[in-house]
Amino acid sequence: MPDSEQVVHINGHSSLFSVALQEKQNSMTKKLPSDSVINLDHGDPKMFEPYWQKMGDKCTVVISGWQSLSYFSDITNLCWFLEPELVEEIRRLHHLVANAEIEGHYIVVGTGSTQLFQAALYALSSPDSAEPINVVSAVPYYSSYQAVTDFLRSGLYRWAGDAYKYKGDQPYIELVTSPNNPDGFIREAVINGSGGKLIHDLAYYWPHYTPITTPADHDLMLFTVSKCTGHAGSRIGWALVKDKEVAKKMTKFIELNTIGVSKDSQLRAAKILKAVSDSCRQDYDNFFDYGRGLMAKRWERLRSVIGRNGLFSLPEYPMEFCNFFGELTEAHPAFAWLKSEEEESKDTESFLRAHKILTRSGKHFGVDTTYLRISMLDREETFDLLLQRLSNMSSKGRENGA
Ligand SMILES: Cc1ncc(COP(=O)(O)O)c(C=O)c1O
Repeated sequence: MPDSEQVVHINGHSSLFSVALQEKQNSMTKKLPSDSVINLDHGDPKMFEPYWQKMGDKCTVVISGWQSLSYFSDITNLCWFLEPELVEEIRRLHHLVANAEIEGHYIVVGTGSTQLFQAALYALSSPDSAEPINVVSAVPYYSSYQAVTDFLRSGLYRWAGDAYKYKGDQPYIELVTSPNNPDGFIREAVINGSGGKLIHDLAYYWPHYTPITTPADHDLMLFTVSKCTGHAGSRIGWALVKDKEVAKKMTKFIELNTIGVSKDSQLRAAKILKAVSDSCRQDYDNFFDYGRGLMAKRWERLRSVIGRNGLFSLPEYPMEFCNFFGELTEAHPAFAWLKSEEEESKDTESFLRAHKILTRSGKHFGVDTTYLRISMLDREETFDLLLQRLSNMSSKGRENGA
């Protein structure tokens, strides 16, 4: 048994270490062995690698030893560790894609949007409040919210679960992920209370995943290069924040947490975002066109396999006019949200693990184990292996008369 599998068994679920180990083995052998454990638990966005390989040196960043030494980037900016090049490219890309209203918003950069999420919780809660503020999100919600919110047992905020069930008249923070992780649907806040504050996580509101129907214009919006361009390893996210005091508090959180955000990463992110914007102005190699084509093909293939094996169902998405592409398009989410169609409710995650496919069970998203989430963002050969195994499940099922 390879080490990677041992790790998986010891922990009872996938670990980042096992993925890294598997990947190291794969990169050494170049080809993914047909009996590999495939890890589609994390939304690790490796499918964009061929595009960036093709871009060659267009995105190479050279930082000399004497550069980027200071903690400070722009002391005239409210977010004093935000690199001006990154500001310029964030603004340019939002203008081009028209997915978010940037005027009237402060930009705060973070070490991924995960750090910004925590900064936002800090900024939206009150130190004078007798009780921690309740943090809610409608099911199925992004699985990390609960873990991150409760990790430090903060006296300022606490996880309070499903927003649909929230009855309290106490102040609350509602997290709205749109398109939603895990199910890919466009969402709005579900609580109609007066004491609520909203965080809109728009990590997937980009044209390769979903039709861009309107520029989002919320009080606090989170974006990340991780899902936009696939550069999760650079750990760069940004928040667009209307309220100056909230933006200041978020900046303070990041100052105390990590004394700013890596300049090297910001410069790299700026270069990558510039390449994306430049690509949108030409007739070839348009990044979003490429991404949408790839996602559409994957979804078509997945739907065909799922349709044939009859074990699961997938959500259906409406056709909508995408302002970016200037045509009717359908969503092609970053995750497939599968529901078991078996009569008896099953632990679908364990079922797929037995077929060496690691996924994330519905229980992590506030629903039951008949649901599971599969990443659609891995490399092509991993995706091929997934489809092959899902197809074999159906043929085995037929052989058994199931
Ligand atoms: C909805 C959502 N928000 C945030 C993140 C994390 O983004 P980052 O890599 O910028 O921390 C993810 C990652 O999967 C996500 O799905």
